[in-house]
Amino acid sequence: MKRIGILTSGGDCQSLNATMRGVAKALYKICDDIEIIGFEDGYKGLIYSNYRVMQPSDFSGILTKGGTILGTSRQPFKLMRIPDENGLDKVEAMKSTYKKLNLECLVVLGGNGSQKTANLLREEGLNIVSLPKTIDNDLWGTDMTFGFMSAVDVASNAIGYIHTTAASHSRVFIVEIMGHKVGWLTLYAGIAGGADIILIPEIPYDLDAVTQAIAARNKSGKHFSILAVAEGAVSKEEAALSKKELKELRKKEPSYPSVAYRLGAAIQERTGQDIRVTVPGHMQRGGEPCPYDRVLSTRFGAAAARLINNQEYGYMISMKGGEITKTALSEIAGQLKTVDPECSIVQEARAVGISFGN
Ligand code: F6P
Repeated sequence: MKRIGILTSGGDCQSLNATMRGVAKALYKICDDIEIIGFEDGYKGLIYSNYRVMQPSDFSGILTKGGTILGTSRQPFKLMRIPDENGLDKVEAMKSTYKKLNLECLVVLGGNGSQKTANLLREEGLNIVSLPKTIDNDLWGTDMTFGFMSAVDVASNAIGYIHTTAASHSRVFIVEIMGHKVGWLTLYAGIAGGADIILIPEIPYDLDAVTQAIAARNKSGKHFSILAVAEGAVSKEEAALSKKELKELRKKEPSYPSVAYRLGAAIQERTGQDIRVTVPGHMQRGGEPCPYDRVLSTRFGAAAARLINNQEYGYMISMKGGEITKTALSEIAGQLKTVDPECSIVQEARAVGISFGN
């Protein structure tokens, strides 16, 4: 009998269950004698040996169910080599659980940090197949991650809802979109939601350019503006600072809950215009996976089962040029897929009049 472990790690997203379902259904179909072990709460379950034997029925009826039936947790990669509060060596503990259960392979559904840990376990001799999860779409080695399009749905709807009230009151609205390091979600949701200004970490903004874009709309008779702003958006001045210098600067400034409030205060001070802030927050990771993600997850899941059946380990399932393929974990670990400020989607957004505040 082949025994396969599976876990979902890091921040959740809408399509984790759909992906596990894809893996499991395809595995049960192609492998004669197979048992799937589900680890609870991500790598934590592997470290502390919390698991359950899954049944085929566990993977039924979960295509449209958000969250994860296994639970998840953040176990930072940088702490993996540091013993826990009881002195437990986490990497050795994970290897020992894997060996004790006599696993053929471990399937990891996760984002950047989780892929790094997956690669670490591969280096330690475990058979790994991973799948690219994140609403941020910032994973190296794949054009698309599952969860991203569902989050785009939620975030663009949020921007869409703001339109009517912004127009009625002639207000400037800032909608803060998730993404501390990369702006894919803000870029897509901003375009899909009809934002007038999109600010992302990869294109540091100039406050003058932002206020000019708002003024230009006012002049053209549009007395409201909507800004889609990534959590990690920074000004040109901030981008030029080191981490330490930025920390010092923040200490001197009034404290704001997040970037949208800080930016809102700056715009209000300059323009005197009424500003409102909306933060959809974790709603962006909630609810059902959109149809695109259900298809992607099914395809990814089936591809993962194929790799396992062929005993091809050490890969993350990925999508390149519309085709499902695989990328070596060693190639992915530690890399980030950011938005190229000159990429065509940015240029096309500019072409229809969207400002990037620079
Ligand atoms: O990586 C996914 C993500 O949702 C980011 O977009 C966001 O910045 C972060 O996780 C939020 O993390 P947490 O759920 O731990 O607050």
